[in-house]
Amino acid sequence: MHIRPAREADLPLIIRIERECYPYPWAEVFFQGHLGEKGFMVCEMEGEIAGYIVVGIKIPSLFERLEMRTKVIFGHPIELEERKGHIMNIAVDPQKRARGLGAALLQSGLDYLQEMDGQTAELEVRVSNFNAIRLYQRFGFQIEKRIYQYYHDGEDGYMMCKVLQPTSTQPASES
Ligand SMILES: CC(C)(COP(=O)(O)OP(=O)(O)OC[C@H]1O[C@@H](n2cnc3c(N)ncnc32)[C@H](O)[C@@H]1OP(=O)(O)O)[C@@H](O)C(=O)NCCC(=O)NCCS
Repeated sequence: MHIRPAREADLPLIIRIERECYPYPWAEVFFQGHLGEKGFMVCEMEGEIAGYIVVGIKIPSLFERLEMRTKVIFGHPIELEERKGHIMNIAVDPQKRARGLGAALLQSGLDYLQEMDGQTAELEVRVSNFNAIRLYQRFGFQIEKRIYQYYHDGEDGYMMCKVLQPTSTQPASES
């Protein structure tokens, strides 16, 4: 099993897996938009794509940026904006599940967010998606809140969150 950045040639298989995994799959254009990003990774098994993950650092919303600017204008001390990592998508081919691939992809996604100085990692998951929720809990994610009718079909979602350990940039003390 091998995890590597996604390439354009992987898209047909990624899209097939996406359609088998989700009732409202991402359109191809969403995956295309993430090509070239290190947070878009695939897991290859015996030369075939078995799963993928898309993670990234969240860009503050227009509202959050306006709020920060307004605070600065009114003389509030500048707060360092929190670097929130987001797990946008993760899926494993239904034929290849329960072999640790989901866990390996999630670990690679979290490692990357940590490398990018992410302070937290968050995600949304259907309240009925017990397999995914268990996987996230095993990795230390906790349910932060329930989001009413988050999904197209009216199902609620959980927002789950995990604090990431800062990557140490300090050399180890010799004393
Ligand atoms: C969620 C998802 C990515 C998990 O992928 P996966 O490859 O099955 O994940 P893992 O194999 O790492 O873990 C799943 C279970 O298999 C078990 N497992 C791991 N390695 C195993 C092995 N070698 N043999 C048998 N079982 C194993 C794990 O213990 C885990 O069970 P547990 O949670 O009861 O401990 C997958 O179910 C999926 O693609 N779902 C559809 C898309 C989706 O819902 N994504 C999440 C959206 S928020």
